[in-house]
Amino acid sequence: MSLTLPPLPYALDALEPHVSRRTLATHHGRHHAAYVEKTRALVQRTAMEGASLEEIVRSSTPGSTLFNVAAQAWNHALLWHSMCPGGGGPARGAIAGMIEENFGGHTAFCQQFVTVAGDQFGSGWAWLVLDDSRLRIVATPNAETPLTAGLVPLLTIDVWEHAYYLDYQHRRLDYIAVFLAHLINWDFANRNLGYASGRAHIAGEAKIQPAVEGHR
Ligand code: FE2
Repeated sequence: MSLTLPPLPYALDALEPHVSRRTLATHHGRHHAAYVEKTRALVQRTAMEGASLEEIVRSSTPGSTLFNVAAQAWNHALLWHSMCPGGGGPARGAIAGMIEENFGGHTAFCQQFVTVAGDQFGSGWAWLVLDDSRLRIVATPNAETPLTAGLVPLLTIDVWEHAYYLDYQHRRLDYIAVFLAHLINWDFANRNLGYASGRAHIAGEAKIQPAVEGHR
């Protein structure tokens, strides 16, 4: 599979007023594009040329330049699908019951999500993941990704400043609150959960790729 920048799954202004066109244009068109381009350049004429982005992330050395740019490319591909116009609010579908069971309800889930995402020191990500059969919220610094930790990423929020500074300046907690209330894409999380369950049943394992087109 060639390494190309996946298109946004919505228009540049689709997430306004919560995420501005200006932020999305820069974040997707500059930051994400640069990670994809750098990954492609680094694997050219190497044994990894022709490998999928996920294979590159899984096989490169954590902390290396290749890992950092490839993981950032993969993480951003998941990010765009983790948000949607008209998203947010309490979970729907199968994942709603798991949130009730694993966190004690929507309010407790939001409180923990805000704490984990807000407390991530410096640049990084917060994730809703499937850990065996339980939901967990975890944070990763810089480019690190649960993909290489045996966890199944279901959705993510980018807490690098480039994700929110134009719209929220230093107010990361406001951005996280808006993500939970207006942006989070529960349908995407449910699709990933369903895919994980299917693969777990068939293959006897819970490690799967997220349901992002072009990144399976
Ligand atoms: Fe980002």
